[in-house]
Parts: sequence; C-alpha cells; structure tokens
Amino acid sequence: MDNQQLLTMVTQMTLEEKVAQLMQLAAPFFEGAEGEGQITGPMKSMGVTEEMVRNSGSVLGYAGAEGTIAVQKAHLKKNRLGIPLLFMADIVHGFKTIFPIPLAIGCSWDLPLAERSAEIAAREAAVSGVHVTYAPMVDLVRDARWGRVMESTGEDPYLNSELARAFVRGFQGQNLREDVQRVAACVKHFAAYGLSEGGRDYNTVDLSEWQLREYYLPAYRAALDEGCEMVMTSFNTVDGVPASGNTRLMRKLLREEWGFDGVLISDWGAVKELIPHGVAEDEAEAAYKAIQAGVDIEMMTSCYVHHLPRLVREGRVEEEIIDEAVLRILQLKERLGLFERPHRGADPEAEKEIVFCAEHRAAARELAEKSCVLLKNERGVLPLARGQRVALVGPFAQSGDILGPWSWTGSRKDAVRLDTAMKAAAAEPGDISVAEGSGIEAMTEAQWAEAARAAADVDVIVLALGESSEMSGEAGSRADITLPAAQLELLRRMKALGKPVAVVLFNGRPLDLRGVYDTADAVLEAWFPGSEGGAAIAALLYGDANPSGRLSMSFPAAVGQIPVYYNHFSTGRPLGAPDAQERYVSHYLDLPNEPLLPFGFGLSYTTFIYGKPQLSGKIMTPDRPLELSVVLTNAGPAEGEETVQLYIRDWVGDTVRPVKELKAFAKVRLAAGESSEVRFTVTEQMLRYTHQNLEFASDAGQFSVFVGPNSRDAEELRFRLEKGPVTSGIRLQGA
Ligand code: IFM
Repeated sequence: MDNQQLLTMVTQMTLEEKVAQLMQLAAPFFEGAEGEGQITGPMKSMGVTEEMVRNSGSVLGYAGAEGTIAVQKAHLKKNRLGIPLLFMADIVHGFKTIFPIPLAIGCSWDLPLAERSAEIAAREAAVSGVHVTYAPMVDLVRDARWGRVMESTGEDPYLNSELARAFVRGFQGQNLREDVQRVAACVKHFAAYGLSEGGRDYNTVDLSEWQLREYYLPAYRAALDEGCEMVMTSFNTVDGVPASGNTRLMRKLLREEWGFDGVLISDWGAVKELIPHGVAEDEAEAAYKAIQAGVDIEMMTSCYVHHLPRLVREGRVEEEIIDEAVLRILQLKERLGLFERPHRGADPEAEKEIVFCAEHRAAARELAEKSCVLLKNERGVLPLARGQRVALVGPFAQSGDILGPWSWTGSRKDAVRLDTAMKAAAAEPGDISVAEGSGIEAMTEAQWAEAARAAADVDVIVLALGESSEMSGEAGSRADITLPAAQLELLRRMKALGKPVAVVLFNGRPLDLRGVYDTADAVLEAWFPGSEGGAAIAALLYGDANPSGRLSMSFPAAVGQIPVYYNHFSTGRPLGAPDAQERYVSHYLDLPNEPLLPFGFGLSYTTFIYGKPQLSGKIMTPDRPLELSVVLTNAGPAEGEETVQLYIRDWVGDTVRPVKELKAFAKVRLAAGESSEVRFTVTEQMLRYTHQNLEFASDAGQFSVFVGPNSRDAEELRFRLEKGPVTSGIRLQGA
C-alpha cells in the first residue's frame, strides 16, 4: 500500500477504531492466546471491551509461529478493515538461543559479533511470529545498584552508541519488507532512565539539559541514525516531567529537532502512571498529556481508549493528532509488509529448523567467550592444567540460571551448565568433583560438609558464585551489591583449606567485590553468559580460549563510591593536584576515589606490550587530522586479543570536560610473539562537545590523547587544535 492508500484507510476508520489502534495489549486479551505470553508489568483490570480488542493495533509479549498465526487469523476475521496486528516482544539478548546479557556484550567490545547476536535473535523471533523487538536498551548507566544495568552496554556514550548501531543493524537488516526474518527495533528507554536516583528502579531522574545532551542522548540518537523504527518512553521524569507526558522531550526534541517520524510507544502502564507521578489528575488528563507529547501507542493501560474519543468530541484534542499517530502505526505495518503478508516470517517449519540451531548456539558460545572478563589471576591459577583435580563448588556449579533476566523465550533446561562443560573439558570427567556448597543466600552445614569433601583431595578449587537472575533486571535494584553473606562465607572457608581458589562470577551488575577480590587468587567475571555459558567458561578456564573481555562499566571499590565512572570531571579541587592542601580536596576519608577496576580493564593469559605511541604532529586543524600509531606486541605464551583504546582530554573548554573520553578502539588478535602497528586517525570531530549554548562544536586549544589497554593505564601525548586566529594565548570562542 502506498501512503495515499494508508491515508485513505485512516479516513475510513471511526474515531473509536482509530483510538483502539493506539492501544497495545498483552497476549491474554486475544482469542487464541488466552493465559499465555510474557507479563512484564502490573495487570490491573483495564475495562477493555471485546470491541476495543477487535480494533486494537498490537500485541505484547507473545511468540510462537502457530500461536501468532492463529491470533492474527482470528483478529483479521473480526477487524472491520482487516488491519493486521503487530506482534511486539522483549527479545533483548536472544530469542531461544540466549546470548550473554547486554552488559556482557558491552564487555566484548565486539561490534560484528554484537550485530550477529541481534541478527540471530531477529531470525529466531521473526520465524516465531514476532515483528518488533523492544530493544536495544541503550540507557547510559553509572549506578550498579540499578538492576537494569544488565540490560545496558555500560557507562560510555561512545561505546554505547557504536553498540546501539550494531544492534539496530542486526535486528533490522537492510530491508524489513523483503527480509521477513528480521524485526523492527525499538530503542529504549527515552530518556535517561539509567540515572534513576539511588539506583532504585522507576525513581526520579533529574539532570541538566547539557548533561542530557552530552552523555545520555547520544546512544538513542545513534540508534535512530541507524534507522531504528521505534522509540519507547522511559518511566522516569526528565526536567520534572515524566517522559510519557513530556512534550518538550518527545514532540520538540525527538520529533521536531531530530525529525523522528516513527512510532513512539509508552512503557508498560507509563501513560496511566502520569497520575501517581502527580502531573495528571485522572486517566483523561493522562491520555491528554501523553497524546499531546506525541506518544502513539499506550502500552497496557487504557487511558486512550476510554478518554480520547470524548476529548476529541469536546474539541480538547485535535483529531489530526490521533490521525497522525494512527498513520505512523499503519506505516510501520506497511514497512513490515503486514498488509500483504499478515503472518510475515511466522513459519512453523522454519521455526523447527533454525530456532536454537547449532550455528546459532556456536555464535552464542563465541560471544560468551568474548564477554567474560578476567579480573584477577595470581599464582598462575588460570588457566587450569588438564589432569589437575578440580573441586567445582558453589550455587552456580550446577545451575541453569545462567541466561539472565529478559530471556523469557529461552529455557534454563537448554543451558549448558558449568559442571557438564567442565567434565567434558577435563582430561577425565572424574577430575571434577562437584558440590553446591551454599545456596544463593544461605548455607547449611550439610552443604558445607559436602563442599569440604569435594575439595579434600583436589589441586585447585573453582567457586561458581553470584546473584540469581531475579537479583538484577527490571525492579531488581539492590542497595548492597556485595555477594550474599553465605557465599562470602563459603569462599572464606574454601580459601582456608589452603588451595588455590578461582572464582567465577555470575551476575547482572558490577559488584562490590570486597571479600572476593581480596580473597580469591583468580576472578573471572562471566556475567549471565547465556545458553552456551558453561561451555564458554570451561573453555576459558582450561585455556582453550583466552579471556579478552574488557569492562564496559567500572567496578566500585565499595558501594559507597557509586556513582563511579571513568569519564568524570576534574572538580576545582582534584585529588593529587600539586598545590592542593591535603584535606581540602575532593576525596573520601575512608575510600579511594578510583574504582577497584576501571572502565576498559581486563586481563589475558598472554602479555601485551605497548610501544611508545607516535603522533604525526603536534598541531591539528579541522581539515588536518593527526595519525596516532602504536606498536603492540604479544610478548606472552598464547595467542590473544587486545582491545587498544584511545581516549581524549580537552584541557580547557567552554564547559568542564571529562578527564578522559573514549573516542576510538581497535580489537587486535596476535599470535604469541607477534607484533602489529595499530593506527588511529584523531579528528576534529572527536573533539566536539556540547557547549553552554548547547552548540555541539570543538574549541581551539590544548588536548591530550591517550592510548592503552584501559582507561587508567593509557599513555598520554599532547597536541593543539588550531581553528583560526589566536592572539597571545587568548582563545577566541567559536573561531
Ligand atoms: O520493554 C519492556 C520495558 O523495558 C520495561 N517494561 C515492560 C516493557 C515491555 O515488556
């Protein structure tokens, strides 16, 4: 259908039909899907009539080729104009083949693999009848107490933006209409949801527009620049107004300034939540504010269907606004080819063939291997030698709870457990003795006795510890982000046996590692590694794969440091300034300022040595970028992959500038003994930032460029940007 035909269709719809098109309901409302699907929010009685369901536009959280085909067929029989339903769902890090959680994918810094993971998720979801995924989630995160950090790729605007683009490419492909095994992406949660106060989910967010633009908006923008079809609002306030009723954010910035003309959907119940937020007196006012703000689809509350028709008839809402929203939804349906092929990619045969196929599982394993981060490795504990006797102990030793939150379509039963994989990887399965040791939160003496027996006669102990998947994810905030006391006690007792101890961590957030990092000899951060997690970890533990993950979010020295992130400002009294008096500097009396493990950090079984970096000149101009080169040598015993990171510091700005900002990185694989020259082009674009007047530009002046293995240990070189007349050291702004 062309746009004119879609416009004609809008004119043929009654007001009630149009408004129902804006309503999204969970699967249980639909004939053929009663009692099924994924419920990800409160299900209060919504007073929705059969007629409203018949005219509704989309379904939430339902998948399965046969089921979605049946629901679509039943719907098309009842819908007067034959408008097909859109099936939307949270396919966040895999469909049935579950990939590592997005925070872990962030730690891989591997854009092609991230894209591939989204492509596989899309293919599996599409043949199972899904049209739209509520992903990628690109909220910038700095507070590990927030359970949803697991769903983000981390604390850096540049890395998040690159990954956002990769995910969108993977989900959507080049042509959604033709390639029915891709799905439309919906970037979320617009905006700044990651800044929830105190790390408590759904809590207030308050930040300056400058900070919003400089740090929080770039990744959403990157996703949209890549062609992302949809945007989801966030639950939080922005500038004192909840996002779902925020005209300045949605209509002015997203639509008018950025030109986004795709579908904007509320989060679950977020339109009605304008009432408890205290900006709407009742459902009618909530509907009014959300539609004025530009929210097209109301997810799982019924303010629109119950109130918009009357508001239009009373002249309080222009029917044109409703028509625009309906048209955008119809246009998306058209771009997905649903008017011609209402079942689109849904295909029970293809579903059997490709969902969870060997090729997809191999990709999940590769990404899991690349997402794990080796945090510590002393006394040569890792890699394990074949033939060593190993005690594998802990609540995750035999657990299938390694998929992580947002894996509702996956199955824990299908997950490769660590004990299974370790036995398969060992020289003899009998080399591995397994015990639970403790539960997630409690340890019995019987569990301890079994663990002590398992460890009595071994060379090394591997402890599989962590958080259950319910301890992070949505509504999974924690104020204390240490490991539960029972597991710390298990580690303490195991260590007291006097044998080398390696800890493998399963969790959805950077933890406060007191009691772990200082006790264990080795620590491998495995996150929630997904369906092939056990196999990937066993390969890393035995050195069949070499750890290459690098942290995309800092690990605090203690929870009291939070928020702690590498790209912070200097402050007027920086710690370590030569002229600072000892006390009156920005510091804690009881903790260092620096995190335990910084952004970009990760160890390997080999040793990478950086040569002296070279810059092609000391002066850059907008049309004369500089070349930076550094020779990287693998001086260790094994092949390995290094992530060479490039950071910039602008020493004097119109606004304060971070002490370092990631601007580029390169992943380099080297054989033992091999060297390679790594080159970066440092451009004027990399030096741009948001000024006081919100202009995005660079300033002439002094800069540092840093290159190295992480945000802490990078080598510094200086250069100047020259942009025009400079008189006796006075910078001419905007010159
Ligand atoms: O997509 C999610 C969102 O991230 C949180 N609330 C529920 C939505 C739909 O499941």
